[in-house]
Amino acid sequence: MTDPERTLTGTEHSPPRSWYIDRPLTGFALPRGRVGSLLGRLMGMVNKSEQLEVLAAVDVQPGERVLEAGYGPGVLLGMLLGAGATVAGVDPSPEMRALAARRSEKAVAAGTADLRVGTAESTGFPDESFDVAVSVNNVPMWSDLTAGMRELHRVVRPGGRVVVAWHGGTHTRGIARKLVLPADVLDRITVSMRDVFGNGEMRQGRHIVTFQATR
Ligand SMILES: C[S@@+](CC[C@H](N)C(=O)[O-])C[C@H]1O[C@@H](n2cnc3c(N)ncnc32)[C@H](O)[C@@H]1O
Repeated sequence: MTDPERTLTGTEHSPPRSWYIDRPLTGFALPRGRVGSLLGRLMGMVNKSEQLEVLAAVDVQPGERVLEAGYGPGVLLGMLLGAGATVAGVDPSPEMRALAARRSEKAVAAGTADLRVGTAESTGFPDESFDVAVSVNNVPMWSDLTAGMRELHRVVRPGGRVVVAWHGGTHTRGIARKLVLPADVLDRITVSMRDVFGNGEMRQGRHIVTFQATR
């Protein structure tokens, strides 16, 4: 039975919950309001090295269509555009949409960036629309892990790539050290990816752990 509190978007009285975090999502997990905008700006300044590692893992080619789920302030989106990709994104926070759209203003105006309010579990994009789907630092916030993996599988073309990343790696720094996921949870994400894609691999980078699959 569906728990009415575990909704995708939540309500004013019942913020969304996730498959992993046992309390309503707030703060960096779901930045809302003026404080959320400040947190988003902070995020945009501090984790560039993580985004660069994800960019390398994605190995985007000019002209590829990339979906980012949970783009936050949009740092990776900017890097993907810089690499010649066409980008689309979903994030449940309208404040993050505003920040990310400002950061990639020209691409939004030119139609090479399509940034929407939405979630990894329900992107709203048609089947097989993308060459690549990527998610950075939000897989524990998804309401339902399997639903998120299924959605990324649905929107990526056959042969397309999916990279899901989270704080970790061999040289985790600062606050990210407290956010490293326990081994059983890393296993759970790998297993969910393999169940949905029929393949999937966890890789420890320098500042990030990635889960990578091919559709
Ligand atoms: C810690 S921030 C990371 C933002 C960005 N990816 C980065 O690395 O800077 C988490 C982001 O995930 C978003 N988020 C929360 N729940 C989500 C969901 N179910 N699907 C996609 N994104 C979600 C939040 O709104 C927030 O922008």
